[in-house]
This record gives sequence, C-alpha cells and structure tokens, in this order.
Amino acid sequence: MAAGPLQVKGEVISVRRVGAYSHVTLLAPGIAERVRPGHFVALAVGDATSSTLLRRSFSIYRAQERGVYGGTVEVVLSAHGPGTRWLSERRERDAVDVVGPLGTPFTLPRDPASCTLVGGGYGSAPLFGLADALRQRGCRVDVVLGAATEERLFGVLDAKRIAQSVTVTTDDGSMGVRGRVTDVLPALFERAETDVVYACGPMPMLRAVAGVAAAYEVASQVAVEEAMACGIGVCMTCVLPVVGDDGVTRMVRSCTEGPVFRGESVRFDAVGTVPADAYGAPQGSGH
Ligand SMILES: Cc1cc2nc3c(=O)[nH]c(=O)nc-3n(C[C@H](O)[C@H](O)[C@H](O)COP(=O)(O)OP(=O)(O)OC[C@H]3O[C@@H](n4cnc5c(N)ncnc54)[C@H](O)[C@@H]3O)c2cc1C
Ligand code: FES
Repeated sequence: MAAGPLQVKGEVISVRRVGAYSHVTLLAPGIAERVRPGHFVALAVGDATSSTLLRRSFSIYRAQERGVYGGTVEVVLSAHGPGTRWLSERRERDAVDVVGPLGTPFTLPRDPASCTLVGGGYGSAPLFGLADALRQRGCRVDVVLGAATEERLFGVLDAKRIAQSVTVTTDDGSMGVRGRVTDVLPALFERAETDVVYACGPMPMLRAVAGVAAAYEVASQVAVEEAMACGIGVCMTCVLPVVGDDGVTRMVRSCTEGPVFRGESVRFDAVGTVPADAYGAPQGSGH
C-alpha cells in the first residue's frame, strides 16, 4: 500500500443530510487508496480570498478506491462553525482541496479477538471501516453508539449490518437505552468477552470509556479530536499529555502520533495543560 499523505484538488460528489449531520462525498484521487481505519483528512474551507485560513480536520467515514468517477472519501460533519457550515453548503461539482490521509490509524489485533466499538455522535463515522477490517481478520465486532438525542446518532443501520450486536444509548431516551455508553459497557464486556475496545467521540466520553476498560482489564484505543491547525506535525497546536511505556509523560502531537492512542496512555485529567511532571515542562519561572 502506498504511504504518505497527498494534497489533491477534490470535487464534491454529493452532500446529504443525515439526522443532525451532513454526509459529504468527495472525489479525491489517490487518497482513498491510502486510507486505513482511523485516518483523517484536512479540508481547505472558503475560497482563495477567505479569512478562514486553516484547514479543518475530519475523520474518514468511508474511502472507496473505485467510485464511478474515481477514488472517493466520505466525511460526516456537524455544522456548527464557519468551516463546517461552509462545507455543508457545498453543492455537486464544487471544488474542495483535500490533504490526506493523515494521522496514525487504529492498531488491529494480530489474531482474531473480540472487539467492542464505541462511537459518540458523529464520532462513530471512522468505526465502520474499522469494523470491516476487524471482520476480515475474523474478529467478533460489537458496537455501542451513543448521543444526546436520536438525531445526533450516526450509523445505526451500518452498525446493524456489520456487528454481532448493536446497543444504542441516548441521554434523553429518544432511542435505545436512556443513559451513557459507559452504562452498558460492563455487561457487554462480559457477554462478548471483549479483548479490546475502540472508541471515538467527545473527550469526556473517551475518558469514561478508557476508565471502564481499565477497570475490566480490557485494552482500549481512543481516537481523540484535539483542535488542530496544520494537521501534519509542524505547529504543535494539537499536543496532549501522553504517558510512554517508560512511565514518562510527554506532550505528543495528536495529528501525527495520533489521533489514535492507547486509552491508558492519555492523561485525560491534564488534557489542555502541560503537567509539571511532563518531559520538558517549564520548571518555575526560570529567572
Ligand atoms: C482528527 C479529527 C477528526 C475530526 N473529525 C470530525 C468529524 O468527523 N466531523 C466533524 O464534524 N468534526 C470533526 N472534527 C472537528 C472539526 O475539525 C472541528 O469541529 C472544526 O474545527 C470545525 O470548524 P468550524 O470552522 O466549523 O468551527 P470552528 O471555528 O473551529 O469552531 C467554531 C466553534 O465551535 C466549537 N467547536 C469546535 N470543535 C467542535 C466540535 N467538535 N463539536 C462542537 N463544537 C466544536 C469551537 O469551540 C468554536 O466555538 C475532527 C477534528 C479532528 C482533530
Ligand atoms: S496540528 Fe500542527 S502539529 Fe498537530
């Protein structure tokens, strides 16, 4: 498989509303062929005179090497700010500049394992390519999808197609079990004899999933969504504190070393800070 990201002049194939989200399919020749589950793309937003200079990052929902027009990548947007709104307002044949695939993808088990996939809101998008890859390796796949409300769930039908079991939770009880994804995990871990849990969604959810996984001695991988500027490891906007195998905390770039990390390695309590015990942290005033 070819390595390394590409920058391509992409083209919008379609934009569809799915619940609270926009599902955007982009023609991105050369990129689809390189995608592995957990990779993301960075999309330029606005035109050449736009003040929205920075690219916006999005998980890859699907990548198809041979669409009718060529390789495509699909992303799922929650339109809330200028960049995501601009993208959700694109129409067929509009140009969108795409850089990808970026990041370090999910690690797949060497041998068949029991895998539980947990998605929060649009965070479930990258889990379906992962589910396909796991199934191809003979893994058992159980899926838990959670969101605040039914319309903020994404991919329930996809999950039913691919998983051994699908559990849905909503904060307001509008679909599935009322409550949080972590409420249903212990019973599922026992029923499915889960070896590894993969999670993608908001940071508090990742923290809670990693905590339950640790309590049940289940390995975990979490895909974080730290704010990013360059997406390619240059600007250090996206660093978060991560503990290495040597027990030392380092500020690690989530765009290149992540977005996927081992759950127990992320210092969730210190995200957004440089902990005093981190390697290279400023010591006192220094003057
Ligand atoms: C690896 C990675 C994968 C991502 N995948 C996706 C994805 O699949 N789909 C998706 O919609 N977004 C995803 N994001 C988040 C997306 O990149 C940001 O939300 C993006 O900055 C939005 O740009 P904007 O111009 O619309 O809003 P901005 O101008 O960045 O933000 C506008 C306002 O929205 C708030 N905001 C920022 N991020 C979020 C958020 N995630 N949810 C709610 N409010 C937020 C900001 O605090 C700010 O107040 C991902 C981010 C990363 C790093
Ligand atoms: S976003 Fe620039 S280093 Fe990660």
